[in-house]
Amino acid sequence: MRLILMGPPGAGKGTQARLLAERYNIPQISTGDILRVAVRNKTPLGMKAKEYMDEGRLVPDDLVVDIVVDRIKKGDCHRGFILDGFPRNIAQAEALEKTLNGLKRGIDHVVDIGVQKKEIIRRLSYRRVCRGCEEGYHLIFAPPLNANVCDKCGGELYQRDDDREEVIEARLKVYEEATFPVLDFYRRNGLLRVIDGIGGIDQVAQKIIDVIEGRGDYNP
Ligand code: AP5
Repeated sequence: MRLILMGPPGAGKGTQARLLAERYNIPQISTGDILRVAVRNKTPLGMKAKEYMDEGRLVPDDLVVDIVVDRIKKGDCHRGFILDGFPRNIAQAEALEKTLNGLKRGIDHVVDIGVQKKEIIRRLSYRRVCRGCEEGYHLIFAPPLNANVCDKCGGELYQRDDDREEVIEARLKVYEEATFPVLDFYRRNGLLRVIDGIGGIDQVAQKIIDVIEGRGDYNP
């Protein structure tokens, strides 16, 4: 199964991708996580990406596309994968399509998780992320068992630099300008399904599972 999760910043793409990856035993590919690890490790990619990420802008395609293309060619993606945070503009969507065509594979589902701005700000302002494994928490809706400690790996939890309100605004603007057209791209070829991202994490997960497993009507 090859799945793309779309949605504005804070919609719950990463949260849902991790749950689905476990359920279907396929890898989650998060460009945001990959870039954050690169920034933390001060790799050449990370050094280039940091200023874009801090300002809420998209990292240039030439830095991102090859990472995803190489990743989906790896053996563990043979049974499928979940893309979270990619593609984010038309050029990336076209590069993905070209790669998959070359591999004689296709995308099975594109799920857009719809969440309104007020809820996005509430989700992002209280988000905490593990420095060790990138697991995401929410101080109210999905708190860790022990304050500031990751339940999964014991790593330290931190607040992302781009979760400040002014950067959230910039990210939402980028989403509208660059990523909205990607939704149309997948709507046109009949792959897009839209779900309401409001509700508990498990409720939203169930809606996505219903799409994947062919239950319910989530046509846009
Ligand atoms: P990225 O990390 O992809 O950020 P994003 O798309 O803005 O999405 P987020 O990670 O902020 O949110 P999410 O939808 O995953 O929500 P989450 O599950 O964490 O990208 C960061 C930056 O990297 C970009 O700005 C860009 O610079 C660069 N970048 C990345 N990919 C790129 C690309 N392809 N091209 C170019 N540049 C790229 O949930 C949010 C919070 O809400 C959490 O606290 C969670 O616990 C909580 N929550 C989740 N679901 C629920 C629910 N149902 N109810 C209540 N709370 C919930």
